[in-house]
Amino acid sequence: MASPPPSSLPLIFILLSTFLSLHHANTCSSINNSAPSSSSILPPSHILSSLQTLPLHGFLHHSIPPLASTDFGNIYHFPPLAILHPHSLSDISRVITHLFQISSASFKIAARGHAHSLQGQAQAHHGLVINMESLREAMRVVRIDDQQVAYVEVSGGELWINVLHETLKHGFAPKSWTDYLHLTVGGTLSNAGISGQAFRHGPQIDNVFHLQVVTGKGEVVACSKDQNADLFYGVLGGLGQFGIITKARISLEPAPKMVKWIRVLYSEFSVFARDQEYLISIENTFDYIEGFVIMNRSGILNSWRSSFNLKDPLQVQATQFESEGRTLYCLEMAKYFTPPHEIEAMNKSVEHLLSELSYIPSTIFLSEVSYVEFLDRVHASELKLRAKGLWDVPHPWLNLLVPRTKIHHFNQEVFGKILTDSNNGPILIYPVNQTRWNSKTCLVTPEEDVFYLVAFLSSAVGEGSLEHILNQNKRILDFCEEARLGVKQYLPHYNTQEEWQSHFGSRWEAFVQRKLAYDPLALLAPGHRIFQNAIATPC
Ligand SMILES: Cc1cc2nc3c(=O)[nH]c(=O)nc-3n(C[C@H](O)[C@H](O)[C@H](O)COP(=O)(O)OP(=O)(O)OC[C@H]3O[C@@H](n4cnc5c(N)ncnc54)[C@H](O)[C@@H]3O)c2cc1C
Ligand SMILES: *[C@@H]1O[C@H](CO)[C@@H](O)[C@H](O)[C@H]1NC(C)=O
Ligand SMILES: *[C@@H]1O[C@H](CO)[C@@H](O)[C@H](O)[C@H]1NC(C)=O
Ligand SMILES: *[C@@H]1O[C@H](CO)[C@@H](O)[C@H](O)[C@H]1NC(C)=O
Ligand SMILES: *[C@@H]1O[C@H](CO)[C@@H](O)[C@H](O)[C@H]1NC(C)=O
Repeated sequence: MASPPPSSLPLIFILLSTFLSLHHANTCSSINNSAPSSSSILPPSHILSSLQTLPLHGFLHHSIPPLASTDFGNIYHFPPLAILHPHSLSDISRVITHLFQISSASFKIAARGHAHSLQGQAQAHHGLVINMESLREAMRVVRIDDQQVAYVEVSGGELWINVLHETLKHGFAPKSWTDYLHLTVGGTLSNAGISGQAFRHGPQIDNVFHLQVVTGKGEVVACSKDQNADLFYGVLGGLGQFGIITKARISLEPAPKMVKWIRVLYSEFSVFARDQEYLISIENTFDYIEGFVIMNRSGILNSWRSSFNLKDPLQVQATQFESEGRTLYCLEMAKYFTPPHEIEAMNKSVEHLLSELSYIPSTIFLSEVSYVEFLDRVHASELKLRAKGLWDVPHPWLNLLVPRTKIHHFNQEVFGKILTDSNNGPILIYPVNQTRWNSKTCLVTPEEDVFYLVAFLSSAVGEGSLEHILNQNKRILDFCEEARLGVKQYLPHYNTQEEWQSHFGSRWEAFVQRKLAYDPLALLAPGHRIFQNAIATPC
């Protein structure tokens, strides 16, 4: 493994000295930045057999099914040497404590949620993968005071779809979602969890009361905004670098029964963006606001996210709208309601909001679906794509956060020039205002209050397609860099520590300090390639 780039060494040394002198953390650390550390002398076979002697509730497997080195991205495949299927918290802390104590800095550990990462982030080459879904525990819904406030306590390996079904039994549901629910709680909280509710409630990481975490030293730590807050905010959006989330308390709201789901089209980006920004700025607005770019309306790969039930004659009219080859922008909105008493208020509110927008009138799609059907909408498309063998293909996705004042320039260049010849999947584009988001989490966002999430959700099908899309992604990134748009990657992916340092910007030092405090051997989440070597070795 390569050493960290030379330019980052002095900074780390300065940080290390400050940190150690202030905290005497984990005391016997001797600073050693010139990995390999003493420990990598231990051959992996020894490490494996020593792991095998640990008393566990679950199982440690040495024979590795190929699945352990796959992910949704289907581009990187790094096989581990072992997989832990933990059945208890102590299985996880025991294994990590052991690896930490034998100082096995070369034997990395990746928590694997539902492995819907895109570039190997949940993989551990020649190391240990912890299959978090084995840790499922009974979920607990707890109401606080007046029945309107509640939380659910869940395992970090729980799928959001299960969280939804369980909380609905109590009439509640989480407030902030992702577009797709077959992802784990620990996996999305390590990133952010951004969807059409984030403009109002913040991303999923802003809707967590409490976490239980196993650090890179094997310690089990309870944390919240008031208790071990540094670890709490470190883990939220922390890309798995500081600990493994074993439990989370997630904020709930009373759940609606139904959703009015609406789509309208625009041919002018400026009008589309103005309407989106207006909707996220007002008080009594929709409950969900997203949008997407439509470059090629034929082809299932481009429309998988937008399939709508076409029973209504109005919708048939809307699908027949001819774009004449132009790029279109689709604004997608939803209003929650519970029949019968909320039908009228919903209808009035929606009619009023729509009357303030400037979409192409003949393009309105209206639909009413259950809350579950709405939230789980992408799963329906997944089943269709699976049936055609189009789900397990490579997914060279690119997610960007683009500052509001730069989005028009971005639109002109990317949708007007770079992507004119082809596009290979849905492209989401919608604004959020982060003023009410919690700025203490590890999520990196652009500097402006309002920024757009732009998600290129490409599928690579056919020869040369992957290279072509990766090349397009690079052109988009190069343009952002050259035009100095102040764009940040979401679900970031970089190859060198220098790039990571520039991603974090002024927050890099704090990030390194946390690594030193909670995972000094850099055992955790190696797939991000942020820290390849131990930054301190214990004696
Ligand atoms: C179809 C699809 C739709 C998506 N839609 C959205 C969306 O709308 N909004 C959005 O924000 N994201 C979205 N994503 C991205 C998704 O949130 C991330 O890829 C997320 O990491 C996937 O969760 P997972 O459980 O599969 O995580 P994994 O891929 O298993 O893990 C992701 C990272 O987190 C670490 N990790 C996993 N579990 C834990 C844990 N318990 N504790 C600590 N670290 C852990 C892993 O080591 C890895 O580094 C989507 C992804 C897909 C494939
Ligand atoms: C750091 O590790 C290297 C290689 O293992 C070793 O040669 C060196 O003496 C160590 N330095 C310190 C300060 O421990
Ligand atoms: C509101 O109700 C009217 C009359 O039933 C109906 O035509 C209209 O489509 C409804 N609007 C919405 C947004 O549901
Ligand atoms: C649009 O999609 C169709 C069907 O997938 C494909 O044949 C065509 O080449 C695409 N056109 C463009 C401009 O990408
Ligand atoms: C973002 O939200 C804040 C607080 O509500 C508001 O003051 C500000 O004007 C908003 N920014 C924009 C660009 O709409």
